Order: sequence, then structure tokens, then C-alpha cells
Amino acid sequence: MRTPIIAGNWKMYKTIGEAVELVKALLGGLDASLVKDREVLVCPPYTALYAVRPLLVGTAISLGAQDVHPEPQGAYTSAIAPGMLVDVGCSAVIIGHSERRQYFGETDASVNKKIGAALGVGLRPIVCVGELKAERDAGQAEAVVGGQLAGGLAGLSAEQMLKLVIAYEPVWAIGTGDTATPADAQAMHAFIRSRLQAQFGAEVAEAVRIQYGGSVKPDNVDELMAQPDIDGALVGGAALKADSFLRIVHFR
Ligand code: 13P
Repeated sequence: MRTPIIAGNWKMYKTIGEAVELVKALLGGLDASLVKDREVLVCPPYTALYAVRPLLVGTAISLGAQDVHPEPQGAYTSAIAPGMLVDVGCSAVIIGHSERRQYFGETDASVNKKIGAALGVGLRPIVCVGELKAERDAGQAEAVVGGQLAGGLAGLSAEQMLKLVIAYEPVWAIGTGDTATPADAQAMHAFIRSRLQAQFGAEVAEAVRIQYGGSVKPDNVDELMAQPDIDGALVGGAALKADSFLRIVHFR
């Protein structure tokens, strides 16, 4: 059985004060009996990590970051090293989000390097894949996602793969309210699992969690999470408010 993992990607939202307020509201509203069998993660902007960390220690919510640089240190103005994320209390990091790919030149090769660097310091990589609308319309969705997986996960061992989470986020569903149907999402998740099986074997493929992301909301999370190969959600907009994120975390 795969432990469901619900993560909030706050993107470039929330001042320090707002982040602290949101974390306090989340902790206050969390139903311990409902979340004992699931993992909950928040990924605030870098500037808020240090402020929210002490609030989260010893709670059911863990801390993640939204990106990482592959080098351990160096003259890389603006970048944040893997060890720095560990230092500030992160246990996970989102890698290869489509916004990083679209606006910051992230490639499958850089994703691959970042995964290795994150694993090297014990961070859990949440590796994002997903196709554009035009690619889906052209019947290329599986080819695109398959390519992202092949490039991003190249050279990983089965043991390393077990530490990863994959997030399938169709780009056309992000921030649009246009969620993939549960059936379409399930089909892609099954495809991703088949690719993991081909590369890493059946045991690994069965164990790796695959999140869905793209307009996950309180009113669609239950149906998405009911799909056999959907093991969690990576939530953007609906993670910015306590009531909507809590309802998603408390999916039935
Ligand atoms: P939305 O939930 O706002 O569509 O964003 C999804 C996402 O990009 C999470 O990483």
C-alpha cells in the first residue's frame, strides 16, 4: 500500500507573516485521526522557510522547497544549495515544475542533476512531468511524459527511485480550473507506472507514489484520489487558503 502524499506548492505567494498565519491555521484545523495514514507537505517560498520551520517540528506537516540548485555551494548568485534546504528543515523538494521548465529554462538534464543532488543530502525529490495542451491535442502526451521520465530519471538506481515522488501535472490544467478528468489522469498515471516498471522493475513501480497536480480543489479531490494509480495531489492555488487545503488533505 502506498501512503498518500498531499503537498501544497505555494509558488511565489505569501510574505513571512502570511506564511506563518497559514501554517498556524493548517495545524489548528488538521484532523489527526484522518491524516495518520497520509503525508502532508507544504512548500512555501524560500523566504518563509526559516520562519515556519519551528511551527512544523513534531507535527504531521513537513516542509519542502520549490526548487534546488544541483551544486553543493559556489558562485551561483540567487541559487539555493541542497544542504541549505536541509539546514532550514526541509525534507523534500519539488524539481522540474512546469513553471521552472517554461520560464527558467529547466531541462530534463538539469532535473536529472538536481535529483541526484537532492538525494545526496537526503531530500525527497518530487519530480514533475506533464504535457502542454498542444501536445495532448496532437496525441503526444504519453511521448512527452515518457521523454521527461527517461531524461529526468536517467541513471538512477532502483533504491534511489524508491525515494522519489512523481507528480503528473498536465500544464493545461495548472491554474486554469480545467482539471484532467479522473479517467484521463488515471490513464496517464498508469502509463507513468508502466514506464517505472520498465526501468526499475515491478516492485519499485508498485511502491512509488504518483501525485496528480493541476486545479486540484476541494470538490474534485475525492474523485481523483479514488483512482487506483493516483497517490496524492500537488496543489497550487487551493493550497493558499487553510480551509481549501485542509479539505484536500482530508480527502475521503
Ligand atoms: P494549481 O493547483 O493552481 O492548478 O497549481 C498546480 C501546481 O502547479 C502545483 O504544483
